[in-house]
Amino acid sequence: MTKQNTQVVDCSGEYVVQYSLPMVPGPDKVRWNATVNGVNVDFFIDSNAILLDVLRDQAGSLGTKRGCDMGTCGCCSVMINGTPKISCLVLAQEARDCEITTVEGLSSGHHLHPIQQTFADCGGSQCGFCTPGFLVVSAALLERNPSPTEPEIKAAIEGNLCRCTGYQQIVESISKASEILVSGRGVGDSTSSKSDPHPGFSGSE
Ligand code: FES
Ligand code: FES
Repeated sequence: MTKQNTQVVDCSGEYVVQYSLPMVPGPDKVRWNATVNGVNVDFFIDSNAILLDVLRDQAGSLGTKRGCDMGTCGCCSVMINGTPKISCLVLAQEARDCEITTVEGLSSGHHLHPIQQTFADCGGSQCGFCTPGFLVVSAALLERNPSPTEPEIKAAIEGNLCRCTGYQQIVESISKASEILVSGRGVGDSTSSKSDPHPGFSGSE
């Protein structure tokens, strides 16, 4: 990069030479198309934009979480053409024209994906921050292998970190979702009324 110099007068009245670097231009804007949760999207994005940022800031997928932003926690996992990927390490341009599924795309209308239901039933989610990433990688696993063994489940989620559950409930949630899928049973309408998980607690005490 070429330095530019300018002669200026300093406070003592002497001429001094001041060096400055020319402004670095920002990234170009490029057009970006993809299918996000079944909807075709068409945005202008920075040419160096990260997929996680485009999904959160432009596609409105706030369920795709930013944890470490360096590929170690798995919170930002999404499916790209059915394969789970860590969206904080993917340039959006690499996912152009792809089918992207985020956690918001797992349910079918009011019907939860079995993995969403079993995470709720088995305590696979506590604070919930890691949960979208786990749900996405688990759904991808069950799609390609509806009856995974416990070692296969553990291998599939090895890139996802959870600070709360101790993982046992997560493995159990995935096994239970597998049972639902293999049995062909559906999951109920998520808007139907549920029994009170905290009976006796009115919320006014
Ligand atoms: S935010 Fe992407 S792996 Fe942690
Ligand atoms: S449920 Fe809290 S980090 Fe996993």
